[in-house]
Amino acid sequence: MAELSKRIVRVPPHRQISKADFRLKRVLIRFDLNVPVEKGEVQDEKRIEAAMPTLKKVMERGAKEIIVISHLGRPEGKRRDEFSLRPVAQIIAKRLRSRVKPKKIETEIDSPALKEYFELTPRVKLFENLRFDPGEESNSASFAKKLASLADIFVQDAFANIHREHTSMVGLPELLPTYAGLLLEKEVYHLMKILNNPDRPFVTLIGGAKVADKLPIIEAFSKIAEAVLVAGKTANEYILEGHPRTGDIYLPTDGISKLGSIVPINEQTLKSGIFDVGPQTIMLYKSILASAKTIFWNGNLGMTENKRFIHGTYEIARFIGKLKAHKVASGGNTDEVISALNLTDQYSFVSTGGGATSDFIAGKKLLALELLLR
Ligand code: 3PG
Repeated sequence: MAELSKRIVRVPPHRQISKADFRLKRVLIRFDLNVPVEKGEVQDEKRIEAAMPTLKKVMERGAKEIIVISHLGRPEGKRRDEFSLRPVAQIIAKRLRSRVKPKKIETEIDSPALKEYFELTPRVKLFENLRFDPGEESNSASFAKKLASLADIFVQDAFANIHREHTSMVGLPELLPTYAGLLLEKEVYHLMKILNNPDRPFVTLIGGAKVADKLPIIEAFSKIAEAVLVAGKTANEYILEGHPRTGDIYLPTDGISKLGSIVPINEQTLKSGIFDVGPQTIMLYKSILASAKTIFWNGNLGMTENKRFIHGTYEIARFIGKLKAHKVASGGNTDEVISALNLTDQYSFVSTGGGATSDFIAGKKLLALELLLR
């Protein structure tokens, strides 16, 4: 594993917001409010919900002004209405029992992200999508300066974006006294515990759609877990592409074909398409999971967008939910299943990071995180 994961267990005390003095200060908070939006409506509020404890804590601790910043989608450096944070502003304001007042500001700061904001309460503003400014993704020094000029203190809580070396992630923390938000602290704690000190046996279940994205975490876990159960389209590709089948990597033995029949896994059935795990595989995976003391699950076991292929994922989600173990899940589709089945309370932690969590586990260099841990 990377040096980072060996050394660090927690955000150090001097970076914790409990140690910051926010009284009468202007505080800039970077969240990851990159949520799915359709026809102007937020489809999944989990990342917004996860941001609220830090926002409320900073409000309670006497900040004079709070400026929230985030990205949403990939507008490619242009102001595009469909990527506006307005729907997100509405949800946050509702949660603060307030109403949104959209405002444009006449300011000498010339940036499409910082010319407009949503007043969420008289003290809290949400600026427009950072990625409306090309300077965000290019880690521009001048954009970092513009952002820094807005506040006295910076709070970084955008864990799900921690793998991006963008201005608000790596440039800005160099310019202001910087603290880690509560979500970031929690994410780091749970993921570090899994990497450094898991209760054993430690079993991981890796599914999802793209083997290329999952190979680094399969490899990382095969070094530290007692078993790595691979499933979903990831498993199909893993087998077809001939990746290593070492002793602690398990692969499905049966699956569900397009027509819904149970078929054995072989080259021919894989090429015709396997859309869910089969009953034998479910039984095998359950028997391995049953004795685990730590479980990490990322990625669905079948094509859950289609109701005909949700069975394996739902069955395993419920099964893990009932086990007595330290249970951490991550990945957009996996957390959708967990919340659709109302199982969130049965998991120790559901990470808000997709790519960020995978990169963290795979031991990739995460500069934005390193800045907070030093
Ligand atoms: C995510 O949703 O994974 C993060 O917000 C990063 O988004 P990006 O992949 O568009 O950089």
